[in-house]
Amino acid sequence: MQKLAILGGNRLNGEVRISGAKNAALPILCAGLLTGDTLQIGNVPDLNDVATMRKLLQQMGMAIEVSGGEVVLSAAQIGKLDAPYDMVKTMRAAILVLGPLVARFGEARVSLPGGCAIGSRPVDLHIKGLQAMGAEIHIEHGYIHAQLPKNGGNGRLKGARIFFDLVSVTGTENLMMAATLADGVTVLENAAREPEVIDLAHCLRAMGAKISGDGTDTITIAGVEKLHGVSYRIMPDRIESGTFLVAAAAAGGSITLTHTRADILDTVLEKLTEAGAKITAGGDRIQLEMNGRPRAVNLRTAPYPAFPTDMQAQFMALNCIAEGSAMVVETIFENRFMHVQELRRLGAQIDVEGNTAVVSGRAHLEGAAIMATDLRASACLVIAGLVAQGETVIDRIYHLDRGYEHIEAKLSQLGANIRRVK
Ligand code: UD1
Repeated sequence: MQKLAILGGNRLNGEVRISGAKNAALPILCAGLLTGDTLQIGNVPDLNDVATMRKLLQQMGMAIEVSGGEVVLSAAQIGKLDAPYDMVKTMRAAILVLGPLVARFGEARVSLPGGCAIGSRPVDLHIKGLQAMGAEIHIEHGYIHAQLPKNGGNGRLKGARIFFDLVSVTGTENLMMAATLADGVTVLENAAREPEVIDLAHCLRAMGAKISGDGTDTITIAGVEKLHGVSYRIMPDRIESGTFLVAAAAAGGSITLTHTRADILDTVLEKLTEAGAKITAGGDRIQLEMNGRPRAVNLRTAPYPAFPTDMQAQFMALNCIAEGSAMVVETIFENRFMHVQELRRLGAQIDVEGNTAVVSGRAHLEGAAIMATDLRASACLVIAGLVAQGETVIDRIYHLDRGYEHIEAKLSQLGANIRRVK
């Protein structure tokens, strides 16, 4: 198994190019199922989750060609309407094939994701939404089997008014995709407002879908009979952007992110400023300068536009070496403090009570052998390794490769002493 070895203490300086957003690329690849025409998608990041999604779609019969960051796909000949357990269990986002398959082919068989490291993460909202649109759904042998009624229907889902009890990002995306081909108008209430939902809506509109209200909590979709091909470029990854900024704020130095967007990082940039970083943004660039020790920052995760749960762990690492103490509240996932145990191995002082962690900043962390437990926890441990004294070796970095493109190459380019070892 591969590990990352980091010799802490170097400041980060220089430029880093931000990749396309994982959480936009995954639903947009699935949107390819909604038409028999060709989609040409640019700025697709080279990540394990993207490779898993491509493999899943190829197993269904989708033709996919990859050239650098460009993916050309065609769902003209889909033979299988299945997402098997071995794929859904490694990547929950595989659930995103459910809506498009039922909408275009009237049937799908998708494994239930089961539990994962950061909580139980059910998919009941996806299922209820499709039922409201007329799909008959049975759960059998661990699979969601969705079908349009054989008798009486016109072979299409029907428009419906759907209220989400909880804000769900992939739930909103799944139902938005399903509704594009439904008969009638669908209104999604308490919908997710994440920028990746908007990116998917832009792509679907370019394919001929009639969608309005994306970016607000009420999205309206007027179903059409057919969608067509498109050439579309994926938005920048705001979590990768935020991760590099926090790394530089913790380690000190001056870095510039290119090919990114500041307007989708408001709360993250605010917190970094509060921590003492100097930030300037313009065009597709964000520059951060940090001198001296960061100040501890309180934060509370919540759906967009509030502070993202996917940035909680990275800020926890920063708080560990900050001046003062901070309270970190996680409101989205019930078990997203797995990194705390590992940070403690580096000497961090963190007390956890329920969904709240109190971090008392220390002047130093000390390198040690630690283990990654999930994607964003891995990023947190890398940041901690960058600031710890001596060597930190992080095991199970396959989690990191799911969502960060060439992270050690990008950090090395900024001056970090980091290498991949077997
Ligand atoms: C997406 C992101 C993930 C991010 C998360 C929250 C992708 C591919 N992944 O995950 O990086 O951490 O949003 O911003 O975009 N829930 C239910 N029932 C459901 C669906 C969700 O109870 O049917 C709960 C979940 O357990 C969780 C909360 O709702 O507590 C939010 O989850 P959700 O927004 O659905 O997360 P994902 O879309 O899986």
